[in-house]
Amino acid sequence: MQDKAQRILVVNAKGGCGKTTVATNLASYFARQYSTLLVDQDPQGSSMRWLSQRMDNLPKIVGMKGGDAGYRPNVTRAWLMQNPLYQKTIIDAPAGVAGHALAKLVAQVDTILIPVQPSPIDISATADFIRDLLLDGKIRQHGIRLGIVANRVKANTRIYHTLRRFLKTLGLPFVGILRDTQNYVRAVDEGLGIHDLPSSQTEADVEQWKTVINWLQNKFEVQKTTSIREHITARAAPLSVASNGNIAASGSV
Ligand SMILES: Nc1ncnc2c1ncn2[C@@H]1O[C@H](COP(=O)(O)OP(=O)(O)OP(=O)(O)O)[C@@H](O)[C@H]1O
Ligand SMILES: [Mg+2]
Repeated sequence: MQDKAQRILVVNAKGGCGKTTVATNLASYFARQYSTLLVDQDPQGSSMRWLSQRMDNLPKIVGMKGGDAGYRPNVTRAWLMQNPLYQKTIIDAPAGVAGHALAKLVAQVDTILIPVQPSPIDISATADFIRDLLLDGKIRQHGIRLGIVANRVKANTRIYHTLRRFLKTLGLPFVGILRDTQNYVRAVDEGLGIHDLPSSQTEADVEQWKTVINWLQNKFEVQKTTSIREHITARAAPLSVASNGNIAASGSV
């Protein structure tokens, strides 16, 4: 298990793909073992709303808004990495984040998780987002680990297979699959994570989270960002997904 402090950014410019769901579930899992900070960078404040519902008898998560004075957004990356105030810091990013704002978030972390839903619009938008992310160059420069989590998956649907193919094409580390279940909707209302719900209801979900957590805790996967970067920069046109599930550069579908 990795004992080093870890800073995880949950991000995708695409709205509604599950950033807050992944961030809050990770925070509630890690809070059982580690000092845990959840940073809400979204002006909508969904993570902080979730945290405000959380009962006091549950493992403590410290919450901070991106704009809070204590958050210190202007300290250097080196300072942040050498002065971990919490063993786990999880940052919930807003939808639509790009450019300088994205680069600033990336500069604060060692790990990035990108939730993506298996839908044509989500896959295309995520491809564009990943290209922006990698063009910045900091991912490689700082050795940041990047993993994709497929969220709201309905197993064996055609579009799910398209998503898998898409990720394989890009050589992206595919670090977990979360099924579509009301368990997440129920949990979010009460400031809970999937691991806080009665285990009789969540066996399948807890099993799915193991893969994501294992990837986060261990350095077993060799990053392949070189090939991703080459692949993405080589493409002039954005990727799109046709109704038949084929992936192509826009204009050639
Ligand atoms: N695996 C899942 N199964 C069922 N519902 C889910 C799942 N993941 C997320 N949801 C629901 O989908 C909606 C959007 O999820 P969430 O708020 O986590 O997305 P987001 O990426 O943070 O959105 P935004 O871009 O607005 O910040 C929420 O109502 C959430 O409860
Ligand atoms: Mg959100």
